[in-house]
Amino acid sequence: MEVDEMDENEWKYHGEGNKSLVVSHVQHARVLRLLKYSTEDAEKSHKTSEQAFRHIQNIVDYGVNVMKPLLGDKFVHNGEAVKLPLDFVRQLSLKVQQERPESRCDKVMDTLSGCALCLPNLTQLSCCSSKAHRPPLCIEIKPKCGFLPSSRHVTKDIKSKVCRFCMHQHFKVS
Ligand SMILES: Nc1ncnc2c1ncn2[C@@H]1O[C@H](COP(=O)(O)OP(=O)(O)OP(=O)(O)O)[C@@H](O)[C@H]1O
Ligand SMILES: [Mg+2]
Ligand SMILES: [Zn+2]
Repeated sequence: MEVDEMDENEWKYHGEGNKSLVVSHVQHARVLRLLKYSTEDAEKSHKTSEQAFRHIQNIVDYGVNVMKPLLGDKFVHNGEAVKLPLDFVRQLSLKVQQERPESRCDKVMDTLSGCALCLPNLTQLSCCSSKAHRPPLCIEIKPKCGFLPSSRHVTKDIKSKVCRFCMHQHFKVS
C-alpha cells in the first residue's frame, strides 16, 4: 500500500466494534483498522500520535511473538502498523459517518493520529475464486477465556486458574 497516495474514494465502511472502525478497499482485499475514542472525554481517551502508533504496533507484536508461535504463520495475519496522511483520514471519517450504526456513534474515529492497522480483508479470500458459486463464509471467533496454567511470569496462584477477562467480569458485577 502506497500511503502517500491514499484516496478516500477507494475505501468504504466495513464495520466497527467498541474500539476500532474498519474500512475496506474497493478493489484490493485489504482493510484498515482505525482506532476510535469517546467524544465525552476526548481529551482523556485520545492518544497522541506516538501512543496510537505504539498501541497498534503492540497488537502487531502480539501477533508475531505470541500468536504465530502458537498457531503457525499460516493462520495468523499480524498486519502492519501504518501512518496515513491526516487529510485522507479526515475525509474518510466524513465519508463513513453516514454508514455507521447510530448505536456506535458515541465514539468517533481517530482522525488525529493518522495511525492504523493494515490487514488482509478476511472476507475476501483469494482462494475462493469461484465467488459466484461459493461465496466465502467468514466466521469471527473471539476467545473470551485464556490463561497460562504455568509460567514463571505468573506470581499469583489465582491467575493460573482464572483468566484476566473472567476476573474483570467478576469485578464489574461485584
Ligand atoms: N481483517 C479483517 N477482515 C475483514 N473484516 C474485519 C477484519 N478485521 C475486522 N473486521 C471486521 O470489523 C469489525 C470490527 O473490528 P474489530 O473486531 O477488530 O474491532 P473491535 O470490536 O472494536 O475490537 P475488539 O474486537 O478487539 O474488541 C469486526 O467485527 C469484523 O466484522
Ligand atoms: Mg470486535
Ligand atoms: Zn476466563
